[in-house]
Amino acid sequence: MKPHWKRRRFLLAWLLTLGLMFTAGYQHQPAVDIDLDGMVAVAHRGAASYAPENTMAAFQKGLEFGADFLEADVHMSKDGELIIMHDESVDRTTNGSGLIRDLTLEQIKELEAGSHFHPDFFGEPVMTLDELLEAFYGKIGLVIEIKHPSLYPGIDEKVVELLSQYPSTESIIVQSFDIDTMKRIHELDPDLQIAVLMKASFVPISPGKLDELTSFADYINFNISFVSRRTVNEVHERDGKVLVWSKKDKRLIQKAVFYEVDGIITDFSRWPFEPEIQVAEE
Ligand code: G3P
Ligand code: CA
Repeated sequence: MKPHWKRRRFLLAWLLTLGLMFTAGYQHQPAVDIDLDGMVAVAHRGAASYAPENTMAAFQKGLEFGADFLEADVHMSKDGELIIMHDESVDRTTNGSGLIRDLTLEQIKELEAGSHFHPDFFGEPVMTLDELLEAFYGKIGLVIEIKHPSLYPGIDEKVVELLSQYPSTESIIVQSFDIDTMKRIHELDPDLQIAVLMKASFVPISPGKLDELTSFADYINFNISFVSRRTVNEVHERDGKVLVWSKKDKRLIQKAVFYEVDGIITDFSRWPFEPEIQVAEE
């Protein structure tokens, strides 16, 4: 076996542990040490396979599991508060209904955001970005995704203003699928680490477009299903980094290692044990 794989023993031991763990259901899964051998691990919406996504419970799990970053999705309420939730509406993940932009913080705080995942999490509240920073700043990195910024005029300035209240943003990455918003955020605070999320329709990316993106973005992030090793190399040649995500691809880690990406964004989803990537003996 190639030396490349020999260096991956920790990763594969972890994968084996996960494969065995997931037979038992979330309640019985023990915390695991994560060592991706150089790649960073980003807990997608918190450790969203273990606790209700984008809630304190899921973020705590991500911290407990040893992730390097917590990823959180951000919208804006009717009264201009930065709300952590994936969807534009509260319907799927809470006991309420309606669009976040039509609800006030007070109304959103009355919602229950845990029991859609499991009754054990009944009472879990919706969080704000302030609360996330308050709880986790300095303990773990944060990847803050601005969702649909065109729906929320001024959300970019609000996020930058909030982050400016912290002494350093070196462990914070701000990301979005909206490239123009990310460019503007870079202009507002050139020290902030920026990631642009690529849609399938953006690839293949021309060399000129990659030059443009890497001129303001530190990370170019892809779903694993539509990135290639060549594209990762092209980003690296421009001193950019690549994080990949997937909820569905069972070979996420295997591909991420092969493509030599800089990290994975995952909800610690149900990755089955895959015998073909077992580590070989020295
Ligand atoms: O961080 C990448 C990923 O979060 C983008 O997809 O829909 O889960 O926010 P989504
Ligand atoms: Ca996200």
